[in-house]
Amino acid sequence: MVDTNRRHTSAESDCTESREKTNTALPFEASGDHGRGDNLIRIRNLSKSYTNNTSQSAKSHFSILKSVDFDLTVGETVAIVGASGIGKSTLLHIMGALDRPDSGIFLFRGQDVFSFDNSQLASFRNTSVGFIFQFHYLLAEFSALENAMLPMLIQGIDKAMAKETAEEILVRVGLKERLSFRVTKLSGGEQQRVALARAIVLKPALLLADEPTGNLDRQNSEQVHQLLMELNHEFGMTMVIVTHNATLASYMSRRVTIINGKLTKPI
Ligand SMILES: Nc1ncnc2c1ncn2[C@@H]1O[C@H](COP(=O)(O)OP(=O)(O)O)[C@@H](O)[C@H]1O
Ligand SMILES: [Mg+2]
Repeated sequence: MVDTNRRHTSAESDCTESREKTNTALPFEASGDHGRGDNLIRIRNLSKSYTNNTSQSAKSHFSILKSVDFDLTVGETVAIVGASGIGKSTLLHIMGALDRPDSGIFLFRGQDVFSFDNSQLASFRNTSVGFIFQFHYLLAEFSALENAMLPMLIQGIDKAMAKETAEEILVRVGLKERLSFRVTKLSGGEQQRVALARAIVLKPALLLADEPTGNLDRQNSEQVHQLLMELNHEFGMTMVIVTHNATLASYMSRRVTIINGKLTKPI
């Protein structure tokens, strides 16, 4: 059982150090104790296939990822690009422990994630990674503030502290005037910024985004792009972003694609 009070206290002392180090008003430091350049993810020989029923009796087997190797260091930003159906989301979901590989190794800060028990996996998903999807999956009946507080409340963080932190981050993503708005009253770009705030409130070491601006117009996309890059520059937040957006991909320090199930440089 996770001692959330203790965890919170240690998160708090991290915050104090972070503020002293970076002299910023933001209440978190994304990379935690790990410095830029340290290994964050090591993937080896990772394979994933799906079995689909093609008819009532026949099944076909699709090999999506074939012995993928991938290393990611703290502070890196990687774009996964390429055509629809090549396995980009599959790989991203495995990195966020939202899906399991058939075989292979996935180490996160040297820890074998798929050897975790269910409660360790839940904790990993809640605190180590932040996930943003193309469709934001915010809770429609709640405000921007309540949506952003949610990961902290799940973690057992005190409500007043969760509110303060969520407010600071929502202000940081430009939503100072929208805190109490129900998310259904916000524009697409604003909703995606709430989703971004929700993804980062627990200062995850890794931000994973699956076509985060795929549903936004150019101006809103550009705002979200700028915000992502600021998070990386200011806090060394490590990110892997699946995108069809050439501008966003060009901002990343590295671009990869998947060809015949293998991770490779785009041509
Ligand atoms: N849960 C699933 N069951 C069966 N097939 C799936 C499942 N998820 C994805 N696929 C198939 O795997 C392939 C890769 O999917 P995906 O990773 O979503 O591709 P991308 O994100 O690059 O568009 C696609 O052909 C897709 O239809
Ligand atoms: Mg996809």
